[in-house]
Amino acid sequence: MEFSIKSLQPGRTRSGCVVVGVFESRKLSGPSAQLDAAAQGALSTIAKRGDVDGKTGTTLMLHNLAGIAAERVLLVGLGREADFGQRQYREAVAAAMRALNSSGAKDAEFYLTALEPDGLDAQWRVQQAVTVARETLYRFDQMKSRKDAAEPALRRVTLVVDKADARKAGSGLEQGVALAEGMALTKDLGNLPPNVCTPGYLADQARELGKRYRMKVQVLERDDMKKLGMNTLLSVAQGSAEPPKFIVIEYRGGAKAAKPVVLVGKGVTFDTGGISIKPAAEMDEMKYDMSGAGTVLGTMKAIGELKLRLNVVGLIPATENMPGGRATRPGDVVKSMSGQTVEILNTDAEGRLILCDALTYAERYEPAAVIDIATLTGACVIALGHVASGLFSNDDALAQELLGAADRAYDRAWRMPLWDDYQDQLKSNFADFANIGGRPAGSVTAACFLARFARKFKWAHLDIAGTAWRSGKDKGATARPVPMLLQFLLGRVRGA
Ligand code: BES
Ligand code: MN
Ligand code: ZN
Repeated sequence: MEFSIKSLQPGRTRSGCVVVGVFESRKLSGPSAQLDAAAQGALSTIAKRGDVDGKTGTTLMLHNLAGIAAERVLLVGLGREADFGQRQYREAVAAAMRALNSSGAKDAEFYLTALEPDGLDAQWRVQQAVTVARETLYRFDQMKSRKDAAEPALRRVTLVVDKADARKAGSGLEQGVALAEGMALTKDLGNLPPNVCTPGYLADQARELGKRYRMKVQVLERDDMKKLGMNTLLSVAQGSAEPPKFIVIEYRGGAKAAKPVVLVGKGVTFDTGGISIKPAAEMDEMKYDMSGAGTVLGTMKAIGELKLRLNVVGLIPATENMPGGRATRPGDVVKSMSGQTVEILNTDAEGRLILCDALTYAERYEPAAVIDIATLTGACVIALGHVASGLFSNDDALAQELLGAADRAYDRAWRMPLWDDYQDQLKSNFADFANIGGRPAGSVTAACFLARFARKFKWAHLDIAGTAWRSGKDKGATARPVPMLLQFLLGRVRGA
């Protein structure tokens, strides 16, 4: 699908479809009023008859209206004008795109981008429209012998904005396409079955990115990790026949001397729980336990597409977590790369064990900031559900910066506490500390564990256990929090 930007008058251009919005009042305004005038009142008649009620996400496709050059007119409900914000805008765009995708229209003039939800600028409107549109087209049918659905006829979408907004809209378009590309990669990696998306597969994907976008990629093998003393990471990997990989991706788009932002992604390609094995129900969803890694790869892809002028390093500790004769036992004590010893009381708290060595590895970059992304705890899903990712940080400014990016991207996060008071729950009689802190505040104690390895830099941790994928009949990866991270990195470019 191709997107372009223009400032147009509705009704005048030949196209497959004109897409305009209607608020719940049914009073036509802006482009829909202009279109109505061109059609000699046909649209207001239809609204009066009650065929459109303007409820968010409803659509009505009309054909061959007299006075309109386009083959079709698509009316899209926007909800109440006073409530029209980010969420309603995104819903309306998605509904419009779904209607277009299932129509025969080959091209469309899209006027929703001329609306101003919450006074948001044209860059935001276009960027969101493009990513939402691309999301409605996303399919995962690589593993099916027959594709589910036919390709939509729609080829070209012209996004309409005011002439004065053309430059902003252009940058929104570029960002939207790059983000959509990155998100599609993240989704694919998450949705792939765990027998395909192994640590080795993630390493190959990183190498591909490296070739395509001139990033330096290095893959450490088990022996390399042994030499570095990454024993907590190796303790997770030791029960698996699949070799672990520690993936390093360096993107240098900024000044030579500029300190990089380091992104660390949890890459557990399947989490059985290990000897502390998980119950059978929904265990298949633990293929998504590499979503942090997928987020890092997708974000790197987006910044490669945008040729972002920033230095960014991606670190991915990748392994399976399996039971077996060589697997770690509850009670094992292991020395991490940092030198701190850990009593592994539950082998299912494995994410923190692989992330902690990656955080220690990050020290060598003297990073401007380190952000880890992990499907870390079921407790985070209990705390925040599937709406917000959990954000933890040892730096208030960094936390605010991420929350701001999350709001703008509509990929929201909520800050959780990281007070030392919680550290007591990790006390161990046999090692420096344990890898679990009991049931209370499970997502906080997991973050507290990581904080012990992040003392040397500004650090944030995103627990995406509730946001990285959807369960049930629409099971699938969401590619969150790629939008938030890209927005954050874009902000750093301007700030530099
Ligand atoms: N990958 C899981 C976390 C998870 C569970 C994410 C369910 C999404 C849905 C993680 O490795 C894990 O098993 N965490 C344990 C920690 C516990 C043993 C302290 C959990 O959340 O139960
Ligand atoms: Mn686990
Ligand atoms: Zn896990």
